[in-house]
Amino acid sequence: MPTADELKTLVGRAALEFVVPGSVVGVGTGSTVNKFIDALATMKGRIAGAVSSSAQSTERMRSLGIRVFDANEVTSLPVYIDGADEIDGRGCMIKGGGAALTREKIVADLAERFVCIADESKQVAVLGRFALPVEVIEMARERIVRRFAAIGGRAVPRAGVVTDNGHPILDVQGLAITDPPALETEINQWPGVVACGIFARHRARVCLLGTAAGVRRIDYD
Ligand code: 5RP
Repeated sequence: MPTADELKTLVGRAALEFVVPGSVVGVGTGSTVNKFIDALATMKGRIAGAVSSSAQSTERMRSLGIRVFDANEVTSLPVYIDGADEIDGRGCMIKGGGAALTREKIVADLAERFVCIADESKQVAVLGRFALPVEVIEMARERIVRRFAAIGGRAVPRAGVVTDNGHPILDVQGLAITDPPALETEINQWPGVVACGIFARHRARVCLLGTAAGVRRIDYD
């Protein structure tokens, strides 16, 4: 049985198949993406560079000699490769365990295709067992906590965490997210929400899932 770390390495390497030679690649954040970045470094001479979703990924890529572009310098990306905290049967995800959700959504929005890399523990029937991360403007924090309480969610500020954008994160427990696009739309309309960790509008089109039997590719409609 491969370890979790070995599964991450497997899917990180497998994602190279989606990298278009000569292009700029969208790169996510997290321990699985770190494996992808290490693999990407082996073909750095064959890509133009990357757009990064966090200071952490930028630092790792630069240290490996991968050129990192500002998101404002590119008009589109053929692919965005990132991990997830949960992924459902349609490719909708919860993201933000690493507090990078806002920039992840910005880079995903620039990309034609989201390829998720994850181990099979992330696959769920219904999103919501993993506490939903939501980046908020500080002065709206308690108002948003009360809004979540009104729909059955227990929102707790993530202790000691400020995002790359300078904002706090709320982690929301107790939500069974049966309609991810509807809840994402609703939360996005609350004043003070910077970004919500539901990725339904920016769902994965492909998932490379690390399993005991190897990498399983799942394509969503
Ligand atoms: C960071 C994220 C990550 O993609 C998510 O937390 C998964 O991370 P890991 O690969 O370490 O399990 O959304 O904000």
